[in-house]
Amino acid sequence: MKDHLTVVDHPLVQHKLSLMRDETTSTAVFRQLLREISQLLAYEITRELPMTTRAVQTPLTEMEAPVLAGKKLALVSILRAGNGLLDGVLELIPSARVGFVGLYRDEETLEPVQYYFKVPEGLQDRMVIAVDPMLATGNSSVAAIDMLKKAGANNLRFLCLLAAPEGVARMKEAHPDVPIVTASLDERLNDKGYIVPGLGDAGDRMFGTK
Ligand code: URA
Repeated sequence: MKDHLTVVDHPLVQHKLSLMRDETTSTAVFRQLLREISQLLAYEITRELPMTTRAVQTPLTEMEAPVLAGKKLALVSILRAGNGLLDGVLELIPSARVGFVGLYRDEETLEPVQYYFKVPEGLQDRMVIAVDPMLATGNSSVAAIDMLKKAGANNLRFLCLLAAPEGVARMKEAHPDVPIVTASLDERLNDKGYIVPGLGDAGDRMFGTK
């Protein structure tokens, strides 16, 4: 991907995102919309997967048909909100390997604290897509990418639903080699580290914890 940031401005993505932002949208509908948007974003982020061909016999003739090349890609969910994006992406790419990075945000310092790390083998040979709906301060995203690079990943992408300019800048500074795909670049962060206008706490909204 040549751009560091890609905002997917497709009408379906934007319409679904507006419904998700609405505070009256129920948990069930929020989750369903997230699943649908994640597939549309996954379509964009996998645009440059390497291809090869294989011989296929159609009912009419034989042809060299395009198929994905190389090792299965790896999806890495940044817990817990990442799981909301993961489900939809996995429906589109069912053979992907899956990893989890457990990070929570210390609400005082806004710094990420790691509590879990389990990723597929052979990350160095795979495209690795880290998924987390909200790129806010960028602290947890940068930390997660640091860990994935340490584990061998060298072909990474970052998939999020919303991004704040602060988080994008932080990622660009720390990981300029990791393209970001998002549905929206929002205005700013508030003093609690929430994205404005945003959609609130993505984890709470998808799991109904508040
Ligand atoms: N995490 C969220 O869930 N929402 C925000 O606005 C920022 C971080």
